[in-house]
Amino acid sequence: MTTASTVAPGIDRIAATIEIGGFGCLAVNAYVLHGADPVLVEAGTVVGRDDFMHALRTVIDPAELRWLWLSHTDPDHIGSIPQLLEEAPNLRVITTFFGMGILNLFAPIPADRINFVNPGDRIELADRTLTGLRPPAYDNPVSTGFVDDRTGVLFSSDCFGALLPEIPERADELDHATLRAGQVRWATIDSPWLHTVDPDLYAGVLDRIRCIEPTMVLSSHLPPAPGDMLEVLLGSLAAVPLADPFEAPDQSTLEAMLAHAAAGAPA
Ligand SMILES: [Fe+2]
Ligand SMILES: [Fe+2]
Repeated sequence: MTTASTVAPGIDRIAATIEIGGFGCLAVNAYVLHGADPVLVEAGTVVGRDDFMHALRTVIDPAELRWLWLSHTDPDHIGSIPQLLEEAPNLRVITTFFGMGILNLFAPIPADRINFVNPGDRIELADRTLTGLRPPAYDNPVSTGFVDDRTGVLFSSDCFGALLPEIPERADELDHATLRAGQVRWATIDSPWLHTVDPDLYAGVLDRIRCIEPTMVLSSHLPPAPGDMLEVLLGSLAAVPLADPFEAPDQSTLEAMLAHAAAGAPA
């Protein structure tokens, strides 16, 4: 089920949950920034596109959308792009050169409906300025988050996501141990390259995020987090380089799952 709710004045969240068998639940979030130039951040999953569009329509007429901030091109972020382009004639997709190239492999978008914003670039909209940044954890080189100067909110793409027993409405409803374990687990799965980084150098990368002092952190894969949780969120990431690497299920596990399903299946 995909739901819509208000997370801050002028910002709605379109939320779905994915259950990752044996590992917990993952929030899959998109956001609508209302204003003179309405912005949609992310476009939902490919398999959930109908539910996504239904939930989106409860908070805005898609035809009014002016921008789609596409943080990266993974299948949990791009689902409704074709429908959005059709329904919103003035919509332009914010991505990078490499993002456009990847999109061209499966859902080509006319170049005049794309706007490049690289980490460090700014885009001036009618009533807000969005400044792109590279999140400190990511699974796709296209990944570009941003800070919205109108609200002070940091949109972090996959970064700060967490695998959780269940998904609360807000991240501050989680106890710190559950949040930290869930964040570390997600980061070791989604950004396994963090095990190869120097923890001291990585602390400098996290410092640059700390300096933003966001009012909220809105991740694609974490319930909305108030800005005063940033230190906790950064602390979890700082632990990832030396955390136990994720051990993925192997073929024998898959065969056991298939056997279990076959034993339980009706004749
Ligand atoms: Fe991703
Ligand atoms: Fe994602």
